[in-house]
Amino acid sequence: MGSLKDTYTLSNGIEIPVLGYGTWQVTDPQDAIDGVVNAVKEGYRHIDTAQMYRNEEYVGQGIKQCGVPREDLFVTSKLNNTNHGYDNTRKTVEESLKKLDLDYLDLFLIHWPVVKNNGGDWKQDNIDTWRALEDLYEEGKLKAIGLSNFAVPHLNNIVENCRVMPMVNQIRLHPGVRQEDTVELSRKHNMVVEAWSPLSPMKYLKDDSEVNAMSEKYGKSIAQLLLRWSVQHGFVTLTKSVHEERIRSNADIFDFELSDEDMSYFDNLTFDELSKPDDFEER
Ligand SMILES: NC(=O)c1ccc[n+]([C@@H]2O[C@H](COP(=O)([O-])OP(=O)(O)OC[C@H]3O[C@@H](n4cnc5c(N)ncnc54)[C@H](OP(=O)(O)O)[C@@H]3O)[C@@H](O)[C@H]2O)c1
Repeated sequence: MGSLKDTYTLSNGIEIPVLGYGTWQVTDPQDAIDGVVNAVKEGYRHIDTAQMYRNEEYVGQGIKQCGVPREDLFVTSKLNNTNHGYDNTRKTVEESLKKLDLDYLDLFLIHWPVVKNNGGDWKQDNIDTWRALEDLYEEGKLKAIGLSNFAVPHLNNIVENCRVMPMVNQIRLHPGVRQEDTVELSRKHNMVVEAWSPLSPMKYLKDDSEVNAMSEKYGKSIAQLLLRWSVQHGFVTLTKSVHEERIRSNADIFDFELSDEDMSYFDNLTFDELSKPDDFEER
């Protein structure tokens, strides 16, 4: 990966930029608008929002104001957990498009699967929701469709019952949370894997002498090392900041490469608090 403009090709031929600008927890309207405008100014072409973030309207305004044609941007949104089911999914995708003021989305994801201990038939519930996305995809409203936070049992259920194979699985990934089984299964079925919260380990690494030595050796911040680790693992990496300087520096990760040894150091880190963020198998 040599540039912020680099892309992966999804299984249906759509290009997805390797670094995405995230908008989770950006609830202030002006921050959301400015964040998107600044990110695009710094060269990001991939914007990630969600119904759950309650900022689609402002992200949409940022997209309008950023000065780059719509077709040059890659915009993702995701289904809120309360909107599962065939009819609800269809209805709320239309609402997302309206809030964003867009004719189509480049990618739409089921944000979280319905899980086992939810009461009903979790398998059928996820299949019904997926059917709605398949139909919207075939109608052209969604250029690509995918999953988020789907672990092995949820993935297998969709893969075994789908008409259109998911093109993406967006999951939590960073040193200390590697979800290797899920990454492997997603890739086996030709899904691009997206990484959320890549900067989570930052607070644990500030006093890590190895990481500080790497920071000095590469002339990069710990945030940049973590983002580079993610990109170097082949993940489409999502990162968020409302600060212009951080938006810029988080994208400045394409002029160096972590050595195998330094990649392994990050691979083998564990943090007690982060080791098992979501026990999907039990749910
Ligand atoms: N599918 C899912 O369930 C799911 C879940 C979570 C996130 N996501 C997506 O993934 C995106 C990325 O995850 P994330 O928001 O957790 O992002 P992140 O980039 O891992 O972390 C963002 C946090 O780090 C701070 N930060 C950013 N750059 C920094 C830097 N250079 N130095 C120090 N601190 C820095 C930000 O604060 P400031 O804004 O104050 O700079 C913010 O608090 C989200 O925004 C969202 O779009 C998806």
